[in-house]
Amino acid sequence: MINKNITFIGVGHISHAIIDGLLKAKTVDKDKIILSGPHLERFNDLGKKYGLKTTTNNIEAVKNAEIVFIGVRPKVVEKVAGGIKTHLKSDALIISIAAGVTFDLLHKYFSAKEIKLVKVIPNIPVAYGLGVVGWVGDYLTVQDKTLVKSLLKPLGLIIECKDEKTLDKLSMISGCGIGYVAYFMKNLEKIAKSYGLNEDDVSKIVLNTFTGTVKHLSETGESPEKLTSAVATKGGITEEVLKSMEEGGFSKLFSESVKKGYDKIGEL
Ligand SMILES: NC(=O)c1ccc[n+]([C@@H]2O[C@H](COP(=O)([O-])OP(=O)(O)OC[C@H]3O[C@@H](n4cnc5c(N)ncnc54)[C@H](OP(=O)(O)O)[C@@H]3O)[C@@H](O)[C@H]2O)c1
Repeated sequence: MINKNITFIGVGHISHAIIDGLLKAKTVDKDKIILSGPHLERFNDLGKKYGLKTTTNNIEAVKNAEIVFIGVRPKVVEKVAGGIKTHLKSDALIISIAAGVTFDLLHKYFSAKEIKLVKVIPNIPVAYGLGVVGWVGDYLTVQDKTLVKSLLKPLGLIIECKDEKTLDKLSMISGCGIGYVAYFMKNLEKIAKSYGLNEDDVSKIVLNTFTGTVKHLSETGESPEKLTSAVATKGGITEEVLKSMEEGGFSKLFSESVKKGYDKIGEL
């Protein structure tokens, strides 16, 4: 059990998932958690579900916090940091989830050079302990690093990145990856509907196709490439589909599209 006062500033989609993941794993003390955001009604249910303290006052929320998660959108980080910086405990550990907000900016926003900072990029399945969480730290002691690792551990696969650029690259795979997979599923559903398959079954069919694929890969340890060739037998139908996708430039387009996202990171 991590016996620390933990505050969440900004309780939107991803903070919600992290809170679910941490509380379900019972590795943090619910009585030491405070949630803070401008609209109480948007996270009151979450607070009630686990019996957490909630507030709309960021300053009150951080006064005794030993760990502060910053879970607001990148453009709001400066305002939030400006509001709380003089009220933080001197040794508070700040964990920023905001994509693309660099350590340089965080130091500037918190007006402190030697503040303990962690940048984290989680993804939504952290709520079930099945996420991928990339992280990188700045001004952390060995003890701080151990604390960060044990705090994040129940959320899924934890990857410590060697620098911020690596974290940005990882975020393009795992953070955004959930969106790519869901987008692919949505398009498969569209095709299924256009074929006149029973509307009620379509989402279940697609979901089972994905969970079945993932289960098979994780049970066998097979690579996606090997599974692709096993399904796309020579002269067969799947091969025809994949060949057509390759010829149409799917791989190239996908890779270029991810690159466009990566190039946007610094502009958020
Ligand atoms: N979503 C993901 O999968 C994901 C993955 C990795 C990283 N991230 C990063 O996580 C951050 C949050 O993303 P999200 O998807 O969770 O966004 P979101 O759902 O919009 O959540 C942002 C939250 O910040 C709150 N907020 C706004 N101003 C605030 C203030 N002054 N003080 C305290 N709270 C304030 C908002 O409250 P109101 O709604 O009441 O205004 C909202 O609940 C972003 O920086 C994003 O880059 C997200």
